[in-house]
Amino acid sequence: MNTLDQQTALQQAARERIKNSHALDGDAGRLAHFYRGWTNSYELDVGSDGYCGPTIVAELAGAVQTAYLSRQRTAIAILDAGCGTGLVGVELERLGFRLIDGIDLSEEMVEKARQTRVYRHVRGNVDLNEPLTEYLSASYDITVCCGVFTLGHVRPQGLREMARITRPNGFIIASTRKSYADTASFEQEVRRLQQAGILVPTQRLNDGRYLAEEDAHYWVFQMPEKASAPTEERS
Ligand SMILES: C[S@@+](CC[C@H](N)C(=O)[O-])C[C@H]1O[C@@H](n2cnc3c(N)ncnc32)[C@H](O)[C@@H]1O
Repeated sequence: MNTLDQQTALQQAARERIKNSHALDGDAGRLAHFYRGWTNSYELDVGSDGYCGPTIVAELAGAVQTAYLSRQRTAIAILDAGCGTGLVGVELERLGFRLIDGIDLSEEMVEKARQTRVYRHVRGNVDLNEPLTEYLSASYDITVCCGVFTLGHVRPQGLREMARITRPNGFIIASTRKSYADTASFEQEVRRLQQAGILVPTQRLNDGRYLAEEDAHYWVFQMPEKASAPTEERS
């Protein structure tokens, strides 16, 4: 097999694993098991398919801070929800953010994120499809979420808890793969949350680059000055 054939074979295998990750129905046990087996080759796989979601999400966080937040980047508390191996955290750190926390379902992915040393705290075994009972309301200036609102992973309803733990006037920045946005009622959930006064969609990059095989939309939501209390509020 020549080098080009090898590259193509690697890319095909990577795409197969990415596709398999979309068939997990948001089941925490299956997701954790799948990512346990994928941790070591995850970055190679998504890198071979031109994954640029983390760069775009982090750069949006940088733009939002410059445009709307008075405090310096070093003082902005960011939650990386579904941090995986830490690709977004590394980009955020490159842009000057320092107070970065990460959460994820997979203990193994989180361990890789910890090794990047760009996070203040990282925690595994956190299911974004469930209430985030360990997290107080209004804890973060910005919540970022990349590659997580994707097929078989986190349902659109997960946005409500992210809104709860983001402070009034703070921001959520999230990617949605196009196929997910088209099929998972993400926009309906956004409308519901907007009508309930929980968040306001303020910016959206449509059809931005994400992976070679598919584009994504990138959303910026702002929390209102006084957010309505989400019904699942636990803190
Ligand atoms: C495609 S990776 C994205 C990781 C990272 N944000 C990035 O952009 O490289 C998806 C991540 O979401 C995590 N994940 C999937 N379902 C989850 C859930 N229900 N709750 C929390 N994390 C979840 C996986 O463990 C995995 O680390």
